[in-house]
Amino acid sequence: MRIRCSLLKPNKKRLVLSLLIVCVLLLVRVRFISEPVAPLAVFPSVIQGFHKYDINCSAIYDLDPVEVGKSMIIRRNQVVEDMDKSLINLTSTCPLFTKYRGYGDVCVSEEEENFPLAYSLVVHKSSWMVERLIRALYSPSNIYCIHYDQKSSADFVLAMEGLARCLPNVFIASKRESVIYASVSRLNADLNCLSDLLGSAVKWKYVINLCGQDFPLRSNIELVSELKKLNGANMLETSRPSERKKERFTFHYQLENVSFEYEKLPKKTNQKKSPPPHGIEVFTGSAYFVLSRDFVAHLDSSAVVKDFLSWSADTYSPDEHFWATLVRVPGVPGEVSRSQPDITDLMSRTRLVKWHYLENNLYPPCTGGHIRSVCIYGAAEMRWLLSYGHWFANKVDTKVDPILIQCLEEKLEEKRKLFQSQLSTCPKG
Ligand SMILES: *[C@@H]1O[C@H](CO)[C@@H](O)[C@H](O)[C@H]1NC(C)=O
Ligand SMILES: *[C@@H]1O[C@H](CO)[C@@H](O)[C@H](O)[C@H]1NC(C)=O
Ligand SMILES: *[C@@H]1O[C@H](CO)[C@@H](O)[C@H](O)[C@H]1NC(C)=O
Repeated sequence: MRIRCSLLKPNKKRLVLSLLIVCVLLLVRVRFISEPVAPLAVFPSVIQGFHKYDINCSAIYDLDPVEVGKSMIIRRNQVVEDMDKSLINLTSTCPLFTKYRGYGDVCVSEEEENFPLAYSLVVHKSSWMVERLIRALYSPSNIYCIHYDQKSSADFVLAMEGLARCLPNVFIASKRESVIYASVSRLNADLNCLSDLLGSAVKWKYVINLCGQDFPLRSNIELVSELKKLNGANMLETSRPSERKKERFTFHYQLENVSFEYEKLPKKTNQKKSPPPHGIEVFTGSAYFVLSRDFVAHLDSSAVVKDFLSWSADTYSPDEHFWATLVRVPGVPGEVSRSQPDITDLMSRTRLVKWHYLENNLYPPCTGGHIRSVCIYGAAEMRWLLSYGHWFANKVDTKVDPILIQCLEEKLEEKRKLFQSQLSTCPKG
């Protein structure tokens, strides 16, 4: 049993001992409780959805040591893999799917109606996680573009098509890339969705891009009210590059076969690149953005942007400088002036990412796991995540900690229902 001690540090030995006893008792108990999502009374047959765990999320939010301990035991012993097949099955009967997942219960306030949002979801696996992400952010007034990978499994693709068929405001990107880590294909995937979104009938005000390991920390109405305050500005990370980061775009990179994890990666060559076109000054940031409609429309029509995109194609991880740079180009809608100080990931509320080397320094330690120096959050970080002020968290993973995701969902749904109960025009959820 690998229980992280950092959580228990402030407590005395005796407490630790009693906790361990409680844990052992719980271990015996949770082994025998493995409930599927409770079937709705109206449906005679048992619906196979994603797995729900027996946990008290209020107690998790309150950092109750017994409940947090219980979540760790579940995580070690009882993580159930949610299958693409069950989502395919469920979406084969759309009314069943929308009812079961409560899409019909989400109603739209006037404020939300007048401020539609667009999403670009670049995803490649774990269809239930994509569905839960959409459900957590769902509003009939919004529009959602799903870009699945050309390499995605047939089942994953069928599940995504099921979502697009059952939800009128969810569609599949008309052009799909085979996304290679750190290559321009990642950037193109988002650009494909942005282009489709611009053409959609929904006149969205802002677009937000998400990947399968992101999760919202705010409900739709909260996002709408925050985005209104931006007043047309874009929100993203944009900093002056370090000397090391500059190598990513001063040399020509080419794709090479690698044997581990990714099949291909861009590899640095000795060949120096010419400076960027049109005197563009390169800034760096992340792949995540919150962009205004005017800015995206400008991207779509600008020759400067087109030239910069072609110039970026042979750089390393162009998604991590493309948006950060273009938002600083003089005259663009929602411009961040070149002279303005760096906007770091902690200042831009787009995404809350916990870097391994900054834990204990800028934030409390990760309670889930790490991948490439980035924390995959655990349930004990729920309160910290929700109170930090950022809008989305990266990374979450049901294989690392399904409890955190379930509890974030519960909290957002609670907030949505509370807001909805105050509206006169909405059915009571
Ligand atoms: C869940 O925990 C909270 C305390 O954090 C408690 O007030 C509540 O009664 C618990 N709910 C259940 C169903 O046990
Ligand atoms: C599909 O779902 C129905 C219930 O809605 C169930 O009876 C059936 O066994 C499922 N089929 C598969 C292949 O999971
Ligand atoms: C890389 O791998 C692909 C398919 O596995 C192969 O066709 C290609 O020749 C390889 N390229 C190099 C440079 O080794």
